[in-house]
Amino acid sequence: MTIDSESELAKLKAVGAVVARTLRTMAAALEPGMTTKELDDVGRQCLDAHGARSAPEITYGFPGATCISIHPAIAHGVPGDRAIAAGDLINIDVSAEIEGSFADTGASFIVPPASPAKRAVCRATRKALNRAVGAARAGLPINVIGKTVETFARKRGFSVIENLAGHGVGGALHEAPANVLSFYDGGDRRMLHEGMVIAVEPFLSTGASQAEQGDDPWTLVTPPQFLTAQYEHSIVVTRRAPIVLTALA
Ligand code: CO
Ligand code: CO
Repeated sequence: MTIDSESELAKLKAVGAVVARTLRTMAAALEPGMTTKELDDVGRQCLDAHGARSAPEITYGFPGATCISIHPAIAHGVPGDRAIAAGDLINIDVSAEIEGSFADTGASFIVPPASPAKRAVCRATRKALNRAVGAARAGLPINVIGKTVETFARKRGFSVIENLAGHGVGGALHEAPANVLSFYDGGDRRMLHEGMVIAVEPFLSTGASQAEQGDDPWTLVTPPQFLTAQYEHSIVVTRRAPIVLTALA
């Protein structure tokens, strides 16, 4: 959506703060031996307590409040009886709705002990997100985001997942503009406008370039020999630095 009022912004900030807090609460609860369902329940309780509804659940009938993906899963993992183990690379993606306003955030975590390779892909992906968010300005092309992510990733020796992308958000979980890519597409003439609400979510990998269908209809994976991480913020584009709706307070 594109917002043009303070009241719309206030609603987005409210739901953005709830998904950020939920992600943080789940990350703090993360420990070996707990199942992904138990971790999802922590998230659901947090959403419930703040009057928020799970966006994937109400939008797509996703079987969980949040998406929890353990390597080699990278996205849309279904919470279940899989036990979290020491050393796991795990992605938690939280999106929610309050009174018709939506926000979307995500992050990858390593359950200690963290291997240097896992740490490196997480650090680079978080930086790629921050740089892409920092590059987004009203009046610039949307592809400045992909250009920034891809340039940074390649410089650090990582690939990007090309078939997963950021997206418009705010009035729905996924809305126009679709395909806010993590690589540079010179043919993409779309522009960033003041008030545009988008989710920026690069996936960087130690070698994979495509997400593939996993063992169930939801889960997306990359080949197990690769490590892939994702970080995501929902932002409002302005003429200066964007407003990050899902930053931790
Ligand atoms: Co997300
Ligand atoms: Co998203």
